Amino acid sequence: MLALIGGSGFTNDDVVTDREEVEMTTPYGAPSAPLVFGRLGGKPIVFLRRHGRSHEYAPHNVPSRANIWALKHAGVEGVVAAGTVGGAELDLGPGAICIPDQILDYTWGRPSTYYDAPAAGVKHVDFTHPFDEALRARLIGAANRLGRSVRPTGVYACTQGPRLETAAEVRRIVRDGGQLIGMTLMPEAALARELGLPYAGICVSVNHAAGIGDSAAGIDFEALKGDVERAVLDLVAIVREAL
Ligand code: HPA
Repeated sequence: MLALIGGSGFTNDDVVTDREEVEMTTPYGAPSAPLVFGRLGGKPIVFLRRHGRSHEYAPHNVPSRANIWALKHAGVEGVVAAGTVGGAELDLGPGAICIPDQILDYTWGRPSTYYDAPAAGVKHVDFTHPFDEALRARLIGAANRLGRSVRPTGVYACTQGPRLETAAEVRRIVRDGGQLIGMTLMPEAALARELGLPYAGICVSVNHAAGIGDSAAGIDFEALKGDVERAVLDLVAIVREAL
């Protein structure tokens, strides 16, 4: 059974049917929301709302350690993590979907490891390829079967938020090799690796990043909300097919 972590744009979780909500506790506190055990397209899934039931956790406050711990202990075989992004390339405008294969991490101050107490010891996990290749291939295959074009690779740059980037920050990210910019896949991806949980991201662009394309003069994030919800439906269709 796979888990789906839903981000911004998952305004109602009725994408999942036959739902049973389970409140969990972990050594790292409560997850951002109850785990929803149910079905997506008839197949079992565990759904977790990353930002909480009523979107109360800003990206830098998401209890990622509790979330990943809870999913691991719920017995899932892997995690598909949805995320909205700003595209840092012209052809990654609103609606574009990407299955990233690399990460640049610009976050700071987020609890980002399970190995930070002397009793836990020190562990340096390999993170050369931060996403699980088999799970990525499953998502790409599902998109192909649906005839939905997706970028099969991309460098996901994770910024701290909650504010959006300056145009100069986006230029720096592009110089660094970043192609899509979001605020949420880190430290989730690293925590999943620490627990040996296969993890892949599926990202949908909801805007050009600051200073790029139609965001040259600015980004009206609130005005994008309708677009986000539509884009998320495409993303859910791919995950349903992948199951
Ligand atoms: N930057 C960071 N995170 C985002 C963006 C962006 O432009 N769009 C959606 N999430």
